[in-house]
Amino acid sequence: MRIDIITIFPGMFNGPFNHSIIKRGVNKGIVKIFLHDLREYTSDKHRSVDDYAFGGGAGMVMAIEPIARCIEELKEQRNYDEVIFLTPDGLLLNQPTANELSLKQNLIVLCGHYKGVDERVRELFITREISIGDYVLSGGEMAAIVLADSIIRLIPGVLGDETSALSDSFQDSLLSPPVYTRPRDFRGLKVPDILLSGHQAKIDEWRMEQAMKRTRERRPGLLNE
Ligand code: 6GU
Repeated sequence: MRIDIITIFPGMFNGPFNHSIIKRGVNKGIVKIFLHDLREYTSDKHRSVDDYAFGGGAGMVMAIEPIARCIEELKEQRNYDEVIFLTPDGLLLNQPTANELSLKQNLIVLCGHYKGVDERVRELFITREISIGDYVLSGGEMAAIVLADSIIRLIPGVLGDETSALSDSFQDSLLSPPVYTRPRDFRGLKVPDILLSGHQAKIDEWRMEQAMKRTRERRPGLLNE
């Protein structure tokens, strides 16, 4: 998979992309990530990427020209499956969406800023608009990092243990059950006996019950979706 990220803050990605699972996917050659600084696609001497909103009101709007130049340059070089815009008014990211995107070859990800993006960017270029939750971030960069992580960990070969992405919370629309490791007794708090029993069928049954209980208590909506 190839992911091209268009951003005014390319430096924000260095930390997250150089650690953990994303780094592993990149190092294994399974995913290639390219960062594009939107300011390098401006034509004015101030390298500005935003402008005042027609009709007035507070807040600047991301202008279409630099975005168009960047996206069109990328599209000349290869075909893209999706051009994703990260914006609080997008569709909420969930596991089915991450699963679907993990099957794609080439993605462009545009990080939103300011009051928004000129509507014609959405009309002309964007195939999918994604939000990562009902709260406001200062920009789309951290959302892009979340999106990239959720996708990359699903690509076969990225995780060492192939089964571990499948047993994630949400992969079967359930939250994960409690897990324990040593010590067996921490200040009187004991690991449930069942997990030490060696009886795998019983353990699996307990885990399913606990996953159901946790989901019912915390996220009942997941059970009727
Ligand atoms: Cl994608 N962008 C911003 N600015 N805020 C968000 C978001 C995205 N998703 C949730 N909040």
